[in-house]
Amino acid sequence: MGFCDDVKAAAEAISAAEEITIISHIDADGISCEAILSQAIARQEIPVKSVFVRQLEPLTMPQVPDDKSFKVFSDLGAGQQNLMQERGLDEKNVLIIDHHVSQPCEREYPQVNCLPYGYTRMSAAGVSYLIARQLDRSNIDLARIAIVGNVGDMMARETCGLVGPAREIIVEDGVRHQSVEVHKKDLNCYGTATRPIHLSLAYNDDPFIKGISNNPEGAKAFLKRIGIRDRAPDGRWLVWEELPPEDKRTIISALAEQLMANGEKTDRLFAETYGFPCELPRTPLRNAQEYATLLNACGRWAKPAIGGAILRGDRGPAYREAEHMLTNHRAIIRDLLQFIIDTGVTELENLQWLHVGGRYPDTIVGIGAGMALSKLNPKIPILIMCEVPEDKNLTKCSMRTNERVVAQGIDLQEALAEASAEYGGGGGGHKIAAGAFIPKRAEKEFVERVDRILKEQFARAGAGNR
Ligand code: C5P
Repeated sequence: MGFCDDVKAAAEAISAAEEITIISHIDADGISCEAILSQAIARQEIPVKSVFVRQLEPLTMPQVPDDKSFKVFSDLGAGQQNLMQERGLDEKNVLIIDHHVSQPCEREYPQVNCLPYGYTRMSAAGVSYLIARQLDRSNIDLARIAIVGNVGDMMARETCGLVGPAREIIVEDGVRHQSVEVHKKDLNCYGTATRPIHLSLAYNDDPFIKGISNNPEGAKAFLKRIGIRDRAPDGRWLVWEELPPEDKRTIISALAEQLMANGEKTDRLFAETYGFPCELPRTPLRNAQEYATLLNACGRWAKPAIGGAILRGDRGPAYREAEHMLTNHRAIIRDLLQFIIDTGVTELENLQWLHVGGRYPDTIVGIGAGMALSKLNPKIPILIMCEVPEDKNLTKCSMRTNERVVAQGIDLQEALAEASAEYGGGGGGHKIAAGAFIPKRAEKEFVERVDRILKEQFARAGAGNR
């Protein structure tokens, strides 16, 4: 059986169900999965309801309804089949749609997962879309949502654009449906629909450009020096997407020159980006990256259904609520990032760690960890711990690293799954980003254990690699 056969089998299982419950993750990818699957299923005239969980774990399992409905787990489940088994779920009544690493389990539940087939740059929303497309080709309108999920899960980051089936099937479908606009060789920069240009440039550190990255005043002076008008006639700041093509070219060439003058490569200056021309200009809905942040803001602040409503077209009350959440989300993440930098991390041999206590919700510490990494020591992974408000005996851990360290043999999913299981917790995710829940009393030993596992991973990949 190949990946296409798994997609077909999943579509058949869905078509045969009498009623379906979708259990999805609260991040941008999970919210996108739910919106794709629930619309595709409803179009088959099968009754469907949805539940969002921050992660499938003993604490959240009671949210999975104890009824006869066919259960579709999306963007989670591959690593938590043991919980399904403990719950007594029947293999015939479950479908897992995931892109996380599977954990071994006595009972193997039907699963569509792109990872074992080597498609490492496709998210669960991508897999969900392929199933929706298999159910009915007219679901092509949902390709746009799959692109948001994929980009939200960083599938385009390292390769500066989507690749593999996510590019060849999903983006192509979106273009054919005319709901997606591909910008080849666009500036590799975040905030192109909503941020003043100098802030977009200054907040970007991939590639790091001396005098501009982390330096809003420097970025403003740079634009002035090359003669770019950065304000509209009424005085408001212009955003990147509003600039005439010749101004965009001038900026990109000047940035390239600056990189070359410093002896740096220019390849990461460009990215393929995905725009949504039907959305209002200057809103976060105009491109996949900012749209995904809006969804993350909804999910991480416990309102994933608001994100789902926006994906279904609500531009009224749901959108206004999401805008508030986005403003709050950004402010708290900025604060968290500053807290990590100001407090500093403890460096062990193979990881750097910090406990942020109860200051920040467990749903966002991973985002802060990822952002802090480039400002700390990027050669070793970062581990952030925090309290879990619902259970004072539990600690949430989030780990992040980068592709360079993964290429040196590091697998955070493996490290956290192994270490957390030893202390009676549970964890998983990806090589580059993983999370776990552990008993609070084991915190110190756990960090040391993860450090030793990482040491083994570095060593296994060959001494002197670092
Ligand atoms: O929570 P955080 O953002 O750190 O999660 C990073 C990755 O690890 C996500 O893909 C998440 O789904 C996964 N994860 C997991 N099991 C956990 C916690 C997180 O598989 N207990």
